[in-house]
This record gives sequence, structure tokens and C-alpha cells, in this order.
Amino acid sequence: MTADPAPAAGDRCPNLPSMSAEPAGRVLIASNRGPVSFSLGDDGRLTSRRGGGGLVAGLSAVAGRAEVLWVCAALNDADRAAARAAPGGRLDVSLSADGAEAAGPESGAGPGRAESMVRMLDIPAPVFERAYNGVANSTLWFIHHLLYDTPNRPLFGLAFRREWESFRAYNAAFADALAEGAGPAVPGAAGTGTRAMVQDYHLTLTPRMLADRRPDLAIAHFSHTPWAPPEYFALLPDDVAGEVLEGILGADHAGFHAQRWADAFLDCCEVVLGAQVDRVARTVRHAGHTTTVGVHALGVDAAQLRARAAADDVQAHVTALDRAAGDRKLIVRIDRTELSKNIVRGLAAYRELLITWPQWRGRVAHLAFAYPSRHDLPEYREYTASVQRIAREIVDEFGTEDWVPLVLQVNDDYARSLAAYQLADVLLVNPVRDGMNLVAKEGPLLSERDCAVVLSREAGAAAELAEGALLVNPYDVSATAQALHEALSMTEAERRRRATLLARASASCPPDRWLAAQLSALETAARRQPA
Ligand code: G6P
Repeated sequence: MTADPAPAAGDRCPNLPSMSAEPAGRVLIASNRGPVSFSLGDDGRLTSRRGGGGLVAGLSAVAGRAEVLWVCAALNDADRAAARAAPGGRLDVSLSADGAEAAGPESGAGPGRAESMVRMLDIPAPVFERAYNGVANSTLWFIHHLLYDTPNRPLFGLAFRREWESFRAYNAAFADALAEGAGPAVPGAAGTGTRAMVQDYHLTLTPRMLADRRPDLAIAHFSHTPWAPPEYFALLPDDVAGEVLEGILGADHAGFHAQRWADAFLDCCEVVLGAQVDRVARTVRHAGHTTTVGVHALGVDAAQLRARAAADDVQAHVTALDRAAGDRKLIVRIDRTELSKNIVRGLAAYRELLITWPQWRGRVAHLAFAYPSRHDLPEYREYTASVQRIAREIVDEFGTEDWVPLVLQVNDDYARSLAAYQLADVLLVNPVRDGMNLVAKEGPLLSERDCAVVLSREAGAAAELAEGALLVNPYDVSATAQALHEALSMTEAERRRRATLLARASASCPPDRWLAAQLSALETAARRQPA
């Protein structure tokens, strides 16, 4: 595994103007999950909900600054119904820094507000299922997070080849919609015309397909996940591995959250593809095209997060959780229940803390929020069951009449999560591998107790939070237990010192700067291409 060298000057979050100073223009965004989703009520009416997650929050920063067309997939029957009902498949939405909502028919761009539209692609359900569950979540996600149990999986046979065909068709549907949504080509506009920003592992083939359809566009790709080292990436069939890399290399600029993931991508381009890699300039030359590779670490909009955390619904949870905890110290974790989040080892570490340092029994409580994720996949359902099993064992083993050592919550409640951040004495973030991890950044910004952060060294966020956090090897349960003990035992002065460093690092590169940095890198990259 590559060490984490210092970023090239100005690369991580350059001192750029924030989005407000960006010139207006047209920006196309493509992501599997869009900024809005729909549900069908008992009365048959469609209601919209703003999309959540770091990706939507980060990209919504473009709202109001540029004319935006956001292309995403319809994820369920209600989305499909909304997409079919929308004129030309385009939904009028109101994007804002904290998400998006479908606007009523009477709303529009309005004075001083750039237009934003969402095009939801009604991809045939079996094709979508094979592309999203079969390739994106069961193959590429497993590759980049090193999740395979290799004696048994992966197994690339005929079933996979069918999934791969669907993945191609799904990526092509995005490329078609972007090509069409870009409008007429503007001659000689390289770098200043329409910019397309393609997101994540679901859409690794789209940049190449889009460049073939529309050579006039400036195209960026951003990976929100880690990137696998070449020897693990090469588990993929050779032609598939090549197609994934060539797909991204269709972009003029490829972005990653951390230096390690960018380096791993460059390694794969060199080893797997035999591409010409310049590590100083951070460029990849392949098939007559040059792609620049950049590190753009996403941070948190501290003011917006704090404003949300001050709302009444969050404060009601603060009161309830505080009453339940009493004067016990709180160890908090908040995750989607994904295999990469390492919740079982985190709970095992808590168990070891109570065994090795019994003085904490009765004086500490662990709040573990593990929200449901990707339950279509059997591995995820089994993992959720394992999390629940070890949680029950801990409560049975250590619980007493007047002490509940662990509370596991498996339902999604954003307001309650924001409350838990405020009360945490220790935040445990121990993924086996993670592109960034925004929990590690949100906690320090909201904590009212100078919370200590026990952080996996395999999270992208570790590169920025190393000075303030206690870094751990996520596979080493005993070392994680030791770090929890250190975090609980830290002097107030040391907690304060670290908390200040953590909060500062977490708030640098907020979404608008993250996006501005990418647009600026994309414009420079696109101008370099021969006309
Ligand atoms: C996580 C990852 C993102 C990814 C998303 C997809 O949040 O960090 O890289 O886009 O999962 O999740 P989904 O629920 O759409 O499968």
C-alpha cells in the first residue's frame, strides 16, 4: 500500500474563489442516485423527497451559479412514474446547498437563480438491477474496498458477462442523455463551454462513451470510493479491467478524495493498461488523449451543519439522549450498514475495552447507529444480522440492572445522528477502507465535548485528520480497544488541542470550494487537449 505523501502544492483545496465567483455556464452532472427521489402515496399521488448523502450535498453547491442538468437513474417504481410523467423526462427541481426538491409547475429559474433540471433515466428494471447490484455494488464496490473472500469469490462466468453487458447499456444510457442534454456544440469552446461532471464507480464507462459522442465537451469524472491497488484490481477479467480504466480516461480530468486513491489509479493505468503515466504532472496519456488526475478532498459546510443541528427536532433528541446517558461517557458511531464500515470489529473492540479495562464498566455507554443499506444484496443482509448478533451478545454479557452498555439503532434518523455528534465523548470511525468518510468530519464540527476521534487509517479522511485523531489499523481489534481507552482517558487539554485541529481540518474544502476546484482543474485540462 502506498504511503500518503504530502499533496502537491495547491492541489487538495486550492485557494480558489468559491462557487459564487464562478462564471455562469452550463454544467451537466451525472450520478446514479439523483438529488430527488419519489414515493407513491396510498392515494396514488407522487411525493418528492430531497436526496441525501455527501455526493448530493457536494454537488448541489453548483445550485444557482450555473445552468444545471442533473442526469440520474430512476431507482424505484415511483421514480419511474415521475420520470414518465415529466415533459421530455425532465423534472424541474430547486437545488440548494442542503439538497434538492422537485419544484411545482409554477416555479422556474426565477430572477437571479439559474435553472436546474433533473433528467431521471427510466432504464429497464432488469438492466438496471444487473448494472447496479451485479456490477456496481457486488463487483466494483468489492474491488475498490478489497472486500472479497477470495477462496470463494469473485467468480467471473457467464452470469457476470450478462451483468457486464447491462452495465455497458446503463452507462450508455447516461452518455446518450448527457450528449443530448448538452445542446448544440459551440465551436472552439474547449474548457469554457459545457462541462460534464460524471460521478463514481457506477458510471466508470460513461466518460469514454460521452467523449465519443461529444468530443466538444469538457468531461470530468470523480470517484467517491477508494481505488484498488493494481494486484487487487487485476482480479477483474483483463478486458473488463481495461474497459473500466479506459472509461475514466475518456475524461479530461479524473478526481479522487485522497492522494492514495489517485496514486492507485495511476498505478493501475500503468500496470494494467500500459498507459504513459507522468507522476509529477499527474497525467495519464492513453490512446492519443491526456487525462489529468487530481486530489479534491470533500469537507463539510460547518455553518450549514451547525444551523441544522440547532433545530428543534435535533435538540429534542439531545435532551433525550443526554438524559439516558446520565454522567456516563458516550462512545458514538454512525454508519450505513455497509460491509466496508467494519461495524462488527468496532463492536468487538468495545467488548475488548470492557474486558481489558473493566474500570469503564458502568461508566461508559456505546451508541451505535447502523442504518440500513443495499438490502437487495444477501451479503448486506447477513452483515446486518452479524452486527445485531454481536450487539446482543455484548448487552447480555455486560449489562446490569442499572447499566445498558450498548444501544444499537438500525433505523435511519438524521436528526438523532446530529444530536449524538453533539454529545459524543469519543467518535469511532473504523472502516476497512473508505473513499473519504464525512462522519469523521461532521462529529468534530458539532461536538460540544471536544470529542476524541478514533479513526481508521484506511479512510480517506485520515490524510487530513491524522494530527488530531487517534489512527488505528481497522483489522486490529485490540489496538482499536486500546485507542478507545486512550480516547476516554485523555486529559481535557489534550482533547481540546486535538478537537481544534480536527474541526479546522474538517471545515476546510467545503462543498462549494470542492466543486470550484474541480471545475477549475477541468477547464485547465480541457484547454490542453488539441482542438
Ligand atoms: C456511498 C459511497 C458513494 C456512493 C454511494 C452509493 O455513500 O461513499 O461513493 O455513491 O454509497 O450508495 P447507494 O445507496 O446509492 O448504493
